[in-house]
Amino acid sequence: MTDVVSRWNIHPEHRWLHGERPAEAVEFDAEQGLWNVWGHAECREMLGDHQVFSSHTARLLPVGVDDSLMEGDLSQLDPPRHLKFRKLLTPAFTPKAIAALEPRIEAITAELLDAIDGKPDIELVADLAYPLPVIVIAELLGVPPSDREMFRGWADNVIESFSGFSSLDEENGAADIAAGTERMQPLLAYLREHVEERRRHPREDLLTRLATAEVDGERLTDNEAVNVANIMLITGHITTSMILGNTLLCLDHDPEQAARVRADRSLVPGAMEEALRVLPPATVLTRATNTDAEVNGYRIPKDQLVFLWLGAANRDPAAFPDPGRFDPDRDPNPHFGFGWGIHFCIGAGLARLEGRIALNGLLDRFAELRADPDDPPGFFGTPDMIGVNRLPLHTR
Ligand code: HEM
Repeated sequence: MTDVVSRWNIHPEHRWLHGERPAEAVEFDAEQGLWNVWGHAECREMLGDHQVFSSHTARLLPVGVDDSLMEGDLSQLDPPRHLKFRKLLTPAFTPKAIAALEPRIEAITAELLDAIDGKPDIELVADLAYPLPVIVIAELLGVPPSDREMFRGWADNVIESFSGFSSLDEENGAADIAAGTERMQPLLAYLREHVEERRRHPREDLLTRLATAEVDGERLTDNEAVNVANIMLITGHITTSMILGNTLLCLDHDPEQAARVRADRSLVPGAMEEALRVLPPATVLTRATNTDAEVNGYRIPKDQLVFLWLGAANRDPAAFPDPGRFDPDRDPNPHFGFGWGIHFCIGAGLARLEGRIALNGLLDRFAELRADPDDPPGFFGTPDMIGVNRLPLHTR
């Protein structure tokens, strides 16, 4: 049987996704001037060593991103500043805080499913996978969930306009980045207004915490508060939306596993983890070497840009027996879908909870959830993400 990747021809340029294993676990790409890391053991070691493999990659990019967008960007920060910013968010993401959201997530899911109940055809992303996480994160931040269609337009625009690769492309990258930055402005202005309002009128929400928080005795600047909120809003919903769609795609492609998951809901979390492994929404992370490095005999000099291909590592046969097989029972499943190390996704617990509730809700309501070859799924085109942005499904 062809696998789900070949069936929908997902990212044909990622040959590792289509069953071809790179010859080496770590390779220098002379054309792009960067190091590609494909191996699981190597990714794990590099992600776990933030002293050598820094997240502050912007300093090495040939095409710079506007500095004001970087302030407060957790994904670009190294210790000790990284932990200080991360701590601003952790109270909202403790297991207890996430568990307390369960009834509300159940209610939002039920409301969204009520609106499509009995329909013979649904479009999973617009009907559930997009609105659910965006409503949840908007409520957590404290911005009106009713503005969600605006966020979608802004987020999709930004994601499609520049990727991790734009900054490498000296010829066209600057134009891509300028366009992406321009497209981000309405969202930043929107968040800035909310931050300013919270400074005047504090509330019980995450935006107020950001607007009034201090790091090293100084209040966050507007840019910092806005950028942290922006990351939460965008990364907090796009990836979760993608993984819901990707899990449905995997199940659609494997009717035997789908029937097992439908009959035994204790397999739902395992199915989602497998989808995160085989189709990870964030498929590449970047790091910059602070010093000369040696990992498993591979030497990478100082000040090099390193691309860690989580999607390839997640299919490394040394870590995952029969890696192309979608197996909800896989245990252990040390995939990197949520990263690894000190930058491990802060929203993983929330994404897992939303995924579990949404998948169970869909399986409860619909006897079938079948993709349609004549109306195939749509995927984000950016090479650093794997995910559907449109998934029509037949429910009968
Ligand atoms: C299935 C859904 C999700 C996926 C696949 C995902 C993936 C990731 C990955 C791979 C990283 C590591 C980045 C790095 O090491 O450079 C990360 C970090 C992060 N994620 Fe997620 N994420 C998801 C959902 C969420 C949600 C729901 C939120 C918030 C509501 C969130 C917020 C963050 C933040 C703030 C970071 C940065 C953490 C740090 O640098 O310390 N993510 N995510």
